[in-house]
Order: sequence, then C-alpha cells, then structure tokens
Amino acid sequence: MSGKRYTRVGHGSVLDFAVVRHMRSIITVLTGALVFACSEAPVAPLPVELTLGISAPADVDPSATVYLSVYHAWTGEGDLRHPLEMIESFETKLGTSTFAFNYPVEGGDGLVVYAWVDTDGDAIHCTPAGRRDLADLAEVGEFPSEQASVSLFLEVPCAGPEWFFPGPVPKQVQQRPGYVPTVLITGSNRGLGLEFTRQYAEAGWKGIATARRPDAAEELQALAEAHTNLVIEQLDVTDFDMIEALATKYQGQPIDVLLNNAGIAGDPSPQQIFRKFDFEYFESYIRTNAIGPAKISETFLSNVQASEEKIIAVITSRAGSFTEAEAGGIPGTTFYRVSKAALNMFMVEIAAALEKRGVTVVLLNPGMVDTRGGMLVEMNEKMNLGLTITPIEESISGMIEIISSIPLEDSGIMHQYSGEPMSF
Ligand SMILES: NC(=O)c1ccc[n+]([C@@H]2O[C@H](COP(=O)([O-])OP(=O)(O)OC[C@H]3O[C@@H](n4cnc5c(N)ncnc54)[C@H](OP(=O)(O)O)[C@@H]3O)[C@@H](O)[C@H]2O)c1
Repeated sequence: MSGKRYTRVGHGSVLDFAVVRHMRSIITVLTGALVFACSEAPVAPLPVELTLGISAPADVDPSATVYLSVYHAWTGEGDLRHPLEMIESFETKLGTSTFAFNYPVEGGDGLVVYAWVDTDGDAIHCTPAGRRDLADLAEVGEFPSEQASVSLFLEVPCAGPEWFFPGPVPKQVQQRPGYVPTVLITGSNRGLGLEFTRQYAEAGWKGIATARRPDAAEELQALAEAHTNLVIEQLDVTDFDMIEALATKYQGQPIDVLLNNAGIAGDPSPQQIFRKFDFEYFESYIRTNAIGPAKISETFLSNVQASEEKIIAVITSRAGSFTEAEAGGIPGTTFYRVSKAALNMFMVEIAAALEKRGVTVVLLNPGMVDTRGGMLVEMNEKMNLGLTITPIEESISGMIEIISSIPLEDSGIMHQYSGEPMSF
C-alpha cells in the first residue's frame, strides 16, 4: 500500500475518501460471502476407519454371524447417552476387522458401537428374555476422529444399545442442592429392619418402611410419628401383586438404597433335617429369602436408577456360603442356608447385569445379632456357647457405612458388617 494515498489512521492523519468507499464495497462483498458460506455450505461428513476386535465366550460358534451397528449419541455429563441414531450397520464375524463409513459431523457428539452375535442362527434381532444372543457396547471417547479402534466382548443378553444407558435423568436428581436421599426397607417393623429404619431416619433420609402388618407395627409407627420423612407401607415380599402395586405408587420416585432386609430367620427346626424335609415349608423360605428380593430388585430398578446413590442391598448370611458349609453348620437350618445361597447367586447375577448401568449391589452379613429380645444373649451366657454376638446398633451402623462407601467395582461381593469382604 502506498504511503501517499493513506497513512496510519489516528493521530489526526488524513484518510483518502476514495479508498474508504472502495474498502466499504469490499467489506460488503466479503460479509455477504461469509453469510452465504455459513448458511448454505453443508459440513462434509468425516470418513472414519473403525478397527474392531470382537470376541465371545468359548461356547459361541466362531463362525456365527455378528451384527454390528454404529451410532451417534448425545453427550450427557461425561457419558454418552440417549438419544442414539444409527449411522451404519454391518454383518461380520468374530475376530478383528476394519470398517469404513462416513460420520455426519453435524449433530453427532460421539460414537457408540454395538454388536450382537447371532447365537441361535435365526438372524432375528434379540430380546433380553427370549434369546440366547449375546451383545456388548463400546463408546469411542476421543471423537470425532478419522481412526478409531475398540474391543467388544459379547457376553451380556442381547437387548439393544438403549439397554446399556440409564435413560433420561429425572428432574429430582438434577436438583442436587437440598437433595434428600431415599431408602426403602423391607421388614422394617422389628429386628434389624427396625434399627435400619431408625438410623436412616435419624440421619435425615426419606424412608419408605415396609411391613406385612403396619397396624401391628407399634415401634415403627412411633418412629414415623417422630420423623416426618418416614412413611410406612404394607408389603409382603412374597406377594408379586403387592410389590408391583407399591412400585406403581412410587413410580418416578428415586430410591437411593433399596434395602432387602425382610427374611425368615435361621431358627433351627426339625422340618429342615434330611429325610424329614418338608418341601412346602422350604417354599416359604425360598419365596421370602431369595425370590422376594430378586423380584423387588427387578420391580424397583427404575427407581434405583433414577437416584444418586443407586444401591441395591440385601441382608444375607454367611450361613449361605459354601465355604462356611464345608466347616459344618447348625443342624436343622438347611432351608435357611439353601435360601441364602440362592439369594447370593441371584445378587451376583444381578450385580453383573447392572454393572454397566452404574447400580451397585451390596450383599451384607450382619454378624450374629440378638433380634429375639435378649434370648440369644442369655442362652449364650448360660450355656457358655462362646458365640460372638454383635450389638444391633454396631451391626447396623457398620452395614450403613458399607452401603454408603462401597465402590461400583465391589458390586456383587459379600461383606461382613464390619467391612471385610467374605467368600461365598
Ligand atoms: N439376626 C441375625 O443374627 C441375622 C444373621 C444373618 C442374617 N440375618 C438376616 O437379616 C434379616 C433380618 O433378620 P432379623 O434378625 O431382623 O429377623 P427378624 O427379627 O425375624 O425379622 C424378620 C423381618 O422380616 C419380616 N418378614 C418375614 N417374612 C416376610 C414377608 N413374607 N414379607 C415381608 N416381611 C417379612 C418380618 O415381618 P413380620 O414381623 O411380619 O414377621 C420381620 O420384619 C433377615 O433376612 C435375616 O435372614 C439376620
């Protein structure tokens, strides 16, 4: 540019008006071009090369067809979440393969890869209940990118990619300031359940305390009168209709800790001795101690998922552990032990199924606690049995501590009330 026509602007120097007019028209043309470019030009899709290592358990036919889909996902806080929109799908085999597709950059916050193996060879998309087809899902973190590689291990029941996501987060959970967690406790009218209810209520939690006969639950009623955050609900854990009706009543209510405490305790009886087995009596054990907690865990899962803590806890017993069985047990407690072993396996399976949903399953052994009004303590002293009896307050506060601090990695592990992991 010539120093003759214009000098630097400012300090009282003169700007040539012809140049100003010329610049104005240039700016007008450039601005128009920019607006046109922004509004009209499509964003070119990104060519992506995706390398996948797909494996499956040993009993899956290595030549089985694997169905593979890649999706856009809206990015939530840190995690990729709904809604998912399919970009491309492929058919492949187990092993390592590379796939090429165009990723439409507009509207895509991330890449989700979902694969399922056609175990039964019928080429029909799986459902969780109906088929043995197995699946896995992976999120590609560093994205958009022209190269991506992930591994998938097809091991969980095939249920579609949405199954892996917790779903929309309800408003209540987003309102963190002032959030009051909620616990639902079964069998809260006496024994360990009553003490759980008392300690959670005193800690300021909202409580849904269930009992088979609320009218007869005098101590629980007194607690509810003292704590306005506590409501009493009727529930028999063997009654599926009641469980479902209660879940309908509390639909949308986050439940931070679903505490399966109700159970038939391990008092010895002659019907539980081999060759005198009373199988009808056994059914009451298995229905109450194993099926009830499993059904409640299924039915209230969406409440747990909607909460902040996302805990399913069960009060089990070391009497249900095979390691303990080797060491012998109290005669006449077979049904109790079998029902607790079944409960343990239910919970190990539920923990595995829920890991990707961020739900932690806690199995707790309360120790030996006298919930028989001092009878056990008295017997222990008089007969010099040498039992280690744990005070109820200590057992419950220890279990609450575990519930509030257990990491997701420890889901499905049995813990002693005092914190030590235990073997099954
Ligand atoms: N105490 C221990 O040393 C010990 C040791 C290991 C494990 N546990 C386990 O801890 C849990 C609580 O034991 P606990 O000593 O507190 O027993 P508990 O004093 O006998 O109380 C059992 C509770 O479960 C309820 N219940 C039984 N069947 C039910 C059903 N079908 N539906 C709903 N509620 C039902 C009872 O209600 P009702 O009043 O209506 O009968 C009661 O509230 C049990 O799962 C037990 O196996 C206890």
